[in-house]
Amino acid sequence: MNIGIIGAGHIGSALAVRLTGLGHKVYIANSRGPETLMDVAQKTGATPVTVEEAARRGTNLIVVTIPLKNIPDLPKDLFAGVPAEVPVIDTCNYYPLLRDGRIPELESGSLTESEWVQQHLGRPVVKVFNNIHAEHIVTRALPAGTPGRIALPVASDDDAAKQKVMALVEELGFDAVDGGNLHASWRYQPGTPAYGEYKPADKLREYLADLGMERTEAQHAEFRANHTRQEQEFLKQMQQSGGAE
Ligand SMILES: NC(=O)c1ccc[n+]([C@@H]2O[C@H](COP(=O)([O-])OP(=O)(O)OC[C@H]3O[C@@H](n4cnc5c(N)ncnc54)[C@H](OP(=O)(O)O)[C@@H]3O)[C@@H](O)[C@H]2O)c1
Repeated sequence: MNIGIIGAGHIGSALAVRLTGLGHKVYIANSRGPETLMDVAQKTGATPVTVEEAARRGTNLIVVTIPLKNIPDLPKDLFAGVPAEVPVIDTCNYYPLLRDGRIPELESGSLTESEWVQQHLGRPVVKVFNNIHAEHIVTRALPAGTPGRIALPVASDDDAAKQKVMALVEELGFDAVDGGNLHASWRYQPGTPAYGEYKPADKLREYLADLGMERTEAQHAEFRANHTRQEQEFLKQMQQSGGAE
């Protein structure tokens, strides 16, 4: 496949390593231009390109993996020429205290994080790889049927795109579990038990079913509070180690 990756940080690079290893052609972009991506190219085997080229040359799949707050900075017509059948993966998470600032729709819970991204991109997205640490994309991949293989939820409003991405998740070494539509993807956002805690496929399906599809006010409050605590704890650790003001 020809795959465009927009974002060449932890997740973009980890995906690039695995995808080139599987024989796919990967085009990777950051905000500063291809000339700043020579190291990434060497480490991953991906071809550095501009953001526009990543969208144009990713003829089978595009991955958007940048800080959530930067989504509105992407070119407005980025996906104008991209055929509807090309899935667009969104890996973004909302970190209001550490990185993104407060976004009203995500604070109120009127939109899930990927619904917000989808609105800004003007294009259906598939939510996956947001609840796995970047390095584990490389180190925890296992062949199908191996005990201990991690399951990853995949959600989208576009069923055809979701099926294609689920097949790729399996190829990458993880069990793909249908996470429903994007409105139900709150179930594996930051602050939930499925964020950063890996489950096998049967347990993940059970977990998703137990929560239901529609987020209640109480669930939103509980998971936001968990995430706020985690962000505050992280900030404290950074301050103690002299890493933040
Ligand atoms: N790290 C993880 O383990 C992890 C796990 C799951 C999900 N996520 C989520 O996935 C997303 C990416 O995370 P990450 O850790 O890979 O981030 P990261 O290491 O900080 O890398 C971000 C990348 O995005 C690029 N970028 C930023 N703004 C851009 C723009 N406007 N146009 C093009 N490229 C842009 C950056 O390029 P420049 O360097 O040129 O600015 C950089 O290559 C985030 O939303 C994060 O919350 C991260």
